[in-house]
Parts: sequence; structure tokens; C-alpha cells
Amino acid sequence: MAHDKSAFERMEKIVSLCKRRGFIFQSSEIYGGLNGCWDYGPLGTELKRNLKDFWWRRMVRERDDVVGMDGSILMNRQVWVASGHEATFTDPMVDCRNCRSRFRADQLPEKNGRKRCLVCGSDDLTEPRAFNLMFKTYVGATEDESTVTYLRPETAQAIFVQFKNILEVSRKKLPFGIAQVGKAFRNEINPRNFTFRSREFEQMELEYFCRPDQGLELLEYWLKERLRFYSDIGISSDLLHVHKIPPEECAHYSKGTYDIEFHFPFGVQELEGVAYRTDYDLTQHQNASGKPLEYFDEETKQHFIPHVVEPSAGVDRTVLALLCAAFDEEHVTDEKGKTETRTVLRFHPRVAPIKCGIFPLLKNNERLVGKAREIVDLLRPHMMVFYDESGAIGRRYRRQDEAGTPFGVTVDFDTIGENGPVNEGTVTMRERDSMKQERIALADIKSFLLERIS
Ligand code: GAP
Repeated sequence: MAHDKSAFERMEKIVSLCKRRGFIFQSSEIYGGLNGCWDYGPLGTELKRNLKDFWWRRMVRERDDVVGMDGSILMNRQVWVASGHEATFTDPMVDCRNCRSRFRADQLPEKNGRKRCLVCGSDDLTEPRAFNLMFKTYVGATEDESTVTYLRPETAQAIFVQFKNILEVSRKKLPFGIAQVGKAFRNEINPRNFTFRSREFEQMELEYFCRPDQGLELLEYWLKERLRFYSDIGISSDLLHVHKIPPEECAHYSKGTYDIEFHFPFGVQELEGVAYRTDYDLTQHQNASGKPLEYFDEETKQHFIPHVVEPSAGVDRTVLALLCAAFDEEHVTDEKGKTETRTVLRFHPRVAPIKCGIFPLLKNNERLVGKAREIVDLLRPHMMVFYDESGAIGRRYRRQDEAGTPFGVTVDFDTIGENGPVNEGTVTMRERDSMKQERIALADIKSFLLERIS
């Protein structure tokens, strides 16, 4: 819910920019959309990919103690029976008898001790009843109870059920983790706040297995690591909030959970959960499948079920947080003294969809265009660049500001030596946030950019 008018307007501007510039569109838009589903356009896809790549780099590639996996979305129904999802992955749902709207009971405002309908304000609501959030489907040609399964509501369970295989092939010793990025589906009662609560979304999850005595310490360790991650993608700590879930509100198997929350324009809301889930999941699967999921500790010669600490983040929510944190409007005055509003997405260069705009000063000058094209070819194998020769240079800069492109290279007459030898072989490098321009040598462009985007 928007807190005030300016927060509401800010969110509206972000949603409209996302559509206008091709970050995010409504799914199936030409048919009226599908509630809770979204499509990422060219810029959004790059942004999302950069986020997932950096998560993978930080959580898997830069570590000795984490390996990756990529599980199927459809799994044997028994996975969801054993994990408890089939019986208890529910939200309380109520209907408004007056206007027939349907809500999650825990999200309704109360007045004089009674919950009210969000649409018409009536307090004539049905009693809450449990609604299972998993999407049901059938595997194969027969549609009956024996072929039922679900689209996975989280990626984590694939990690638990493959624990033994991965332990064997990776030959890791505790503590070690298995990471996965992938789609998850929840039939949310009220998808809302743009992509924040969707029915189809992606998760980035790590299950970090350990000895029972290491769990609490590792919970603190992963909380710190995850906060460092957000800072490294440009989300300032001022915009984050750590919520320690009181023990009585934690899941019965959890010995501690933190929510990492972000100050969205519509309120402070969860981005990621970091939970110490004890040995619950592996024990459930061992009991239900009858297959041993124990670990043998060679030092102590003991067999036991590992405990697990789980940092579980939402890709789409983090993309939305990146957009909200980056969005800015400022008043700038041009050379002619005209003031205008500059819309700029101040993405960290690491996640920015396009890293560098490349502009020949004039499009009808072959030498300028040729040199700019050479720079495009030089940079393309290393990063996403955008070539633009149309319109005044100021307008081209503005278009890239709005896309969040951190750098712009302009090839001008100095570059090609038409103003004498002093600046020949140099270009202007413009930095998005300060709008400052400096001349740098053609030979230095690649290293200048690589240093700043990695
Ligand atoms: N394996 C643990 C787990 O799934 P969760 O708190 O239910 O925990 C983890 O989900 C993260 O997944 C959330 O913090 C959020 O970022 C993302 N997420 C969950 N439901 C979502 C939804 N309906 N739309 C978008 N992201 C969602």
C-alpha cells in the first residue's frame, strides 16, 4: 500500500518508465493481461540477467564450498507431501459477501476490531478458509488423482531431494552449500504492487548444510553475506531493514529467521528470508522416501542428518528494488539556460542493462560513424553496449540516462584529428550520475569500462 501521495506517484512513475522503456510489460497484454504474471522486455531482461549472474558469481563461483544445480519445475508429488506443502502451504482466504472480492485475510485492514473489504469497505466477510497456493497439474494423458502434481512453489525442495547425489559427486565436506536459481509458482490470492507479489516468479536460493552446532553461527554469517551482496549491487543500507522474526512467529522447525526488507514506495517489504531450518527438510524426505540422506563425518565417525541455513531471495523483487532504488528525477539547466527534468536510473554499473552508449557526434560523417562502429566492435564481446546516432547528442544522453546506462562515449572531430593532433585518438567519456565528461584515449576505453562494471 502506498504510504502517501508522493510515494504513490513515485511508484506510478516507475511502473510507467518500466513500460515505456521496455523493462517490464504485463503478460499477454494484448488479451487483457494475466493477473500476477509479467514479461521482461529488452532492458529488464538484461537487468535481471546481470542480477542473477552476479548472485551466481558471489554465491557459487567465488566460493570453494558451494556448488550449483538446476532442477526440474515438475517433481514427484510425494516431494510436496513430504515437505508439508500439500497439507499446509496455504493462505487464509476470505470473500466479501457484498462485492464478491476475494482477499488474503491477513492483509485486510481492521476498523473497530472488524476486518473490512479493501474494495467496498464492507465488514460482511466470510470466515477465513485455507487456500493452497500451489498450482495443480497432471502429468501425462490421464487427469486423475494418480497423475496429480504441482508447479514448484519454491526451488529449495529440488536441492533437498538431490542432496545425496550432489554430496557424492561433489565430494564436499560439511559445511557446504547447493545453490539454485529458477522459476517458482504460487497461486497468490492477491497479486499486487506491480511485480512484488506475482504468481510466477524466480528465486535465488542457497541451502547451506552444516553440523547442528554450526547452525546459529552460520545464520549470522549468511545474514551479513547477503547484506554485503545488496550493497555490492548498489542498494544502500539506508534502504534495507533487517527484521528478526520473533521465535513464536517462526516456522516450527526454524531455530531463527531474518527477513531482509526493502523500503519500497508502497512500504517496507520482504526481499529475502535467511532461515535456519534445522534438519527438518532432509529428515522429512528421508522418512518419506525411505532413502538415507545422512552424512558420514569421517573425523567423528558419526552418521547424522545435516542442518541447513537457507538464504532465499526473490529475483523479481530484487529487480523491483533495484529499479526503485535507482529511479531519480532532477532538474537540470541546459547550455541555453532552459531547465528540464532529467529522469535517471542510477543503477550500479555492475547491474545496469547497458554498460555504455556509443555515439558518433554526427550520423552523416563517415569517419565519425566508422570510428564509433569500431568501438562498438571492440566492446561487444565484453559487455552490452548501445550504438545511437539519431538526434541531438543531448537527447541521446537523456535516453541512456533513462535506461540507466552508466557511461557514454562520444566520437567527435577531435577523435578523428580534424581539430589538430592534441586530442586525436581520444573520445569523451560521460559519466551518467555526475554528467561529467573527460577525454580518454581510444586504447583505454575497454579497460576503463571493465574496471568499473565487473
Ligand atoms: N525456500 C524458502 C522460501 O521459498 P519464501 O519466503 O516463501 O521462502 C523466498 O520465499 C523469497 O521468494 C521471498 O523473500 C521473495 O523474495 C520471493 N517470493 C516469494 N513469493 C513471491 C511472490 N509471490 N512474488 C514474487 N516473489 C516472491
